[in-house]
Amino acid sequence: MKILLKNNKEEIGKEIASRIVELINKKPNTVLGLATGSSPITTYKELIKAYKEKKVSFKYVTTFNLDEYVGYKREKDSYKYFMHHNLFDEIDIKDVNTHFPDATNPLAYDKEIELKEIDFQVLGIGADGHIGFNEPMTSFDSKTHITKLTKQTISDNSQYFESIDAVPKEAVTMGLSTIMKAKEIVLIATGKNKRSAIKALLAGESKGCPASILNRHPNVTIYLDKDADPREN
Ligand code: PGA
Repeated sequence: MKILLKNNKEEIGKEIASRIVELINKKPNTVLGLATGSSPITTYKELIKAYKEKKVSFKYVTTFNLDEYVGYKREKDSYKYFMHHNLFDEIDIKDVNTHFPDATNPLAYDKEIELKEIDFQVLGIGADGHIGFNEPMTSFDSKTHITKLTKQTISDNSQYFESIDAVPKEAVTMGLSTIMKAKEIVLIATGKNKRSAIKALLAGESKGCPASILNRHPNVTIYLDKDADPREN
């Protein structure tokens, strides 16, 4: 596992986006695994910039998002909306090539991913160590499934909703074993509230920190800022 300490989110976004652009230029039909939340936003901004500067085309790219809320009230609250707003509507990706897990048939997502194979997976991490919506104690063998969100996740994500009551209580997420199938994985963690999750991840495998499964993967890079780096103290 490679750990890279960077000055800020902007630097992290630039570096990951340039890796993705390089990958797509080598393999135009690259398959990306994408995340929502605040962590990947700078990466998406840099990808949009690269597209507008004609450095890359997403015409043949396929994407699989990590997760989606179940039972959101407004379209605007969905992760599909988030992805359109923050990336897809600004680039030349084809709508039919963008994928989200379907709560009515979660396992179909694993089958689709198996057929395509994710070349490059972008991850954030929850303050509780979740990746996707795989909350603590999720089985390391899990496939795409419906899950209940923890109180911590509901509270962390309430900033994006009208009120805490509007945050969905369930989501459908790629499982931990689904995520592990990606050929290459990057995880972004910035800010003090991620430090203990990163500490747990670096301490070795434990079900209490779902992200710690990444210790088993041969090609993972963790991008940290100083605040999220437990080695700084
Ligand atoms: P964040 O969320 O990027 O908004 O901090 C990460 C996550 O919960 O996985």
